[in-house]
Amino acid sequence: MRTHYCAEVNETHIGQEVTVAGWVASRRDHGGLIFIDLRDKDEVIQLVCDPADNAQAHKLAEEVRDQFVLVATGKMRARGEGLENPKLKTGKVEMVVDKLTIENRSKPMPFDLNDDKVNEEIKLKHRYLELRTQKSYDIFKLRSKATIAARNSLDELDFLEVETPILTKSTPEGARDYLVPSRVHGGEFYALPQSPQLFKQLLMVSGFDRYFQIAKCFRDEDLRADRQPEFTQIDVEMSFCDQEDVIKVAEKLISDVFTACGFNIPATFKRMPYSEAMEKYGSDKPDMRYGLEMVDVIDIFERCDNEIFSSIASTPKKNRIKALKVPKGDEIFSKRQMKGFEEYVRKFGASGLGYFQMKEDGLKGPLAKFFTEEDLQAIIDRCELEVGDAVFFGAGEKKLVWDYMGRFRIYLAETMDIIPENVFEFLWVMDFPMFEVEDGHVKALHHPFTQPKSLDFNDIEEIESIAYDIVLNGTELGGGSIRIHKEDMQAEIFKLLGISEEEAQEKFGFLLDALKYGAPPHGGFALGLDRLIMLMTGASSIREVIAFPKTQRAQCLLTQAPSPVDAEQLKELSLRIRQQPAT
Ligand code: AMO
Repeated sequence: MRTHYCAEVNETHIGQEVTVAGWVASRRDHGGLIFIDLRDKDEVIQLVCDPADNAQAHKLAEEVRDQFVLVATGKMRARGEGLENPKLKTGKVEMVVDKLTIENRSKPMPFDLNDDKVNEEIKLKHRYLELRTQKSYDIFKLRSKATIAARNSLDELDFLEVETPILTKSTPEGARDYLVPSRVHGGEFYALPQSPQLFKQLLMVSGFDRYFQIAKCFRDEDLRADRQPEFTQIDVEMSFCDQEDVIKVAEKLISDVFTACGFNIPATFKRMPYSEAMEKYGSDKPDMRYGLEMVDVIDIFERCDNEIFSSIASTPKKNRIKALKVPKGDEIFSKRQMKGFEEYVRKFGASGLGYFQMKEDGLKGPLAKFFTEEDLQAIIDRCELEVGDAVFFGAGEKKLVWDYMGRFRIYLAETMDIIPENVFEFLWVMDFPMFEVEDGHVKALHHPFTQPKSLDFNDIEEIESIAYDIVLNGTELGGGSIRIHKEDMQAEIFKLLGISEEEAQEKFGFLLDALKYGAPPHGGFALGLDRLIMLMTGASSIREVIAFPKTQRAQCLLTQAPSPVDAEQLKELSLRIRQQPAT
């Protein structure tokens, strides 16, 4: 219907006849002249309807309202002196409308499309209207570019794109499964894949050598700003490789995707062992855009005259006492803010938050009286304190201290507004522990198919795995590992995880069987595509970069899913609802 997209029209078209099509972004009636801003997918053009030029088009323009669908034909002319709009590609020209067609009318919008602060529920209910905005179009244009760049990058490296099933069996990635009842096999269920993990490993056994997939994954877990129940991974697996080979592919892929989207990033990324990330940043996904590193002071506190601290310090394997220096903190923070910080860490299980202030005449603060002059000096030296600085302390069981001090570090950075924007800080976090023990239960930190560095151990939590995560600006962007390719080791790992032989056979028998038929050494990784786009676009929530997302309560407000089904369907599926679930 059109001769040009709006963005294609400029001064070179002055005097030419052009046809454009789109939606009315705004309409202004200047008594006589009617101006219409017409928007298509990515630009706005100004239409002028002058009764003197074309009375019929002008009459029709009187009926036009916001978001009506128009096709307009007319000659382009230069805008009047001082009436140019430098924000638009079409800002120097306007169309004198000769022919106007109203292709469709629109009810008034249920919300102001240009208002960012509109309640999210209303926007999600009419998501197709929110997607009509320039902001959304730009996000999805970038997403499309990134996906195509990922495909091209992996294709160049000889990776084969293979689709794996959606109706399948449980793949453990640490979340609950979404289940789909089988009609043919009453009382039995498929699970939607939490990731294609097991299938991609099977493809390596098949000898495909290099696989990738832009894969939909499903996880029933607590939702946050960077999590959706249904999300997309760029999923990769390769054979006859070691960790370095996999990292090389991941770095090239990420770098190709960022370059295609117009960003400049380094070709290789910094690396850090998991233990260092936890000790310095209290997190396995540290945000490297700012400092605020923690320092160990447990040996100094062991000598202090406060029984609580000295007893915590007496078991340094189990406990930690961490210091977090805030440059100029003593000058920046009020007493009330200092109190507020303590309240903040208490929410995450801290029993308190000690602090010192670095004054002209030495280290001061409520804790100072418990330390000798030498030990106060030792703290100054260890933390490299200067006059005006503040230093905070967290003490207790190590995982608890890492957790609340890690959160406190982020909270401080946000409070102090020191996080630079438009910067991408990538980090590989490496050498993850293979297992963690929670309430006496052994769990795999990555997944149970990850290869341990060795299985000689005194303490199961000390076993390291060949696993790596890629972190971007404090968000886990992806992760992967070298896999177990020998059946006996896989069986051993299931045993350590407390999975009985029968259970392993029932759940993963097909994998254990496949490993017996010449499984090659293999490994891979997966990147969260939605998170990648969220970080690239600076979106505040993952929902903004998913065309039809779910709410924090896993609902689609547009289609009203999930929804009840009729009795007949339930019967076919051999299902009966025992009671209405609590809402
Ligand atoms: P993992 O579970 O770390 O690894 O997932 C890989 C990446 O997927 C993204 N992601 C999510 N994005 C949005 N919403 C969610 N609920 C969600 N969960 C995960 C994250 C994450 O880093 N099979 C392994 C990969 C491998 O070992 O090859 C896996 O799925 O960005």
